[in-house]
Amino acid sequence: MKVCVIGGAGYIGSHAVVELVKEGHEVVVVDNLSTGTKDSVDPKAKFYFADITHKEELNQVFDLECSIKPFDAVLHFAAKIVVNDSVYRPLEYYHNNVEGVRIMLEVMVNHKIKNVIFSSTAAVYGDAKQGICREDDLCAPINPYGETKLASERMIQWVAKAHDLNYCIFRYFNVAGAHQSLKIGLLRDNLTHIIPITVQAGLKIRDAVTIFGDTYPTKDGTCIRDYIHVSDLADAHVLGMKHIVEKNESILLNLGSSTGYSVKEVVEEVSKHLDVKVLMGEPREGDPAMLIASSSKAKEVLGWSVKRSLADIIQTDIDFRRKHEKTPR
Ligand SMILES: NC(=O)c1ccc[n+]([C@@H]2O[C@H](COP(=O)([O-])OP(=O)(O)OC[C@H]3O[C@@H](n4cnc5c(N)ncnc54)[C@H](O)[C@@H]3O)[C@@H](O)[C@H]2O)c1
Repeated sequence: MKVCVIGGAGYIGSHAVVELVKEGHEVVVVDNLSTGTKDSVDPKAKFYFADITHKEELNQVFDLECSIKPFDAVLHFAAKIVVNDSVYRPLEYYHNNVEGVRIMLEVMVNHKIKNVIFSSTAAVYGDAKQGICREDDLCAPINPYGETKLASERMIQWVAKAHDLNYCIFRYFNVAGAHQSLKIGLLRDNLTHIIPITVQAGLKIRDAVTIFGDTYPTKDGTCIRDYIHVSDLADAHVLGMKHIVEKNESILLNLGSSTGYSVKEVVEEVSKHLDVKVLMGEPREGDPAMLIASSSKAKEVLGWSVKRSLADIIQTDIDFRRKHEKTPR
C-alpha cells in the first residue's frame, strides 16, 4: 500500500515508519520537525517538510503524490503532547492538534483518500475512577491535551459518516522503549515520562527522579500505569491499517499491555541495572491513581497483544540512551 505518515519524524511515528517499510509499504512522511528529526526517518521513506496546519502545504504534497499514485491510507501522529504545557497553552494545542486534524481530513476528502489511522491517548478517559479503561467507557478528559484528542476522535468519526471514510483510532497508554536497532528512540529536552527520566537519573544525565506522591490507594502508594513498548505499538498500526483497508470498516481500540506497574516498581526495575537517586515529591494535581488498558478488543479484532515486557522496555531505553545521550561517565 502507499501510505502517508504525518508526524513520521517523531518518536512513535518513526517506529511505525520502520515497520511499514519492513512490511513492503511505500511510505511518504510529512513533518514540520517541530519535535521530530529527519535523521529518525527511515531512509527508504520519502520525506516532505510541511506543516499540516497550513492547508496549502499539505495540499501540495497530496496533489503531487496522488498524481503519481493515490494514498491508500494516512496515519496521523502530528500532535503536541505535553499535558502540563497544554494547561498553559491551550490555544496552541487546539490549533495544532484539532485544526491540524481538520485540515488533514479536508485534504483527504478532497483527494478521495478513504482510510485514516489516528493516534489517540488514554488521556481521553480522564480521571478513570475504576482504573481499568474500556473503549466504551465514558470519556471525560481533565486537561486540554486530552480534550484535543477527544475532539479529534469525534471529528474523525463525524467526517467518516459523511464522507465514506474508514478510521482506525488507537488510544495508547504509556509508550516507552526504543527500537532494537537503537537507531531511534525517545530523545527530547524536558522529558516528562517516568521511564526515560529514571534511566537518565541512573546514567547521571540528571541528578534524580522524583516520585510524585506515595499515598495513592494502590499497593505501594504510588500511581499505577500501563506501559507499552513503542515497537509493539508500531506493529499494531500495520495490523490496524490492513484491517480497515481490507474489511472496509472502522475500529477504535485501546493499545496497552493490560498490566499495571507502580512508579516504585518501574524505578526498582531500572535500579536492577543502574544506581538511581530517588526523591519524593507531592502528588500532582489530576494524576489518577491507576490507569490500565483493557486490551481484549485489540486482541479480538486484530489478533494483537504486546510481545515485549517492562524489562524489555527498560533495557532498550537504557541501551538507547547509553548510545545517544552524553553521560559524564
Ligand atoms: N508518547 C506517548 O506516550 C503518547 C501516548 C499517547 C498518545 N500519543 C500520541 O502519539 C502521537 C505521537 O506522539 P510522539 O510521542 O511520537 O510525539 P512526537 O512529538 O515525538 O512526534 C510528533 C511528530 O509530529 C510532528 N508534528 C507536530 N505538529 C505538526 C504539524 N502541525 N505538522 C507537521 N508535523 C507536526 C513533530 O515534528 C513530530 O515529528 C501523538 O499524536 C500523541 O498524542 C503519544
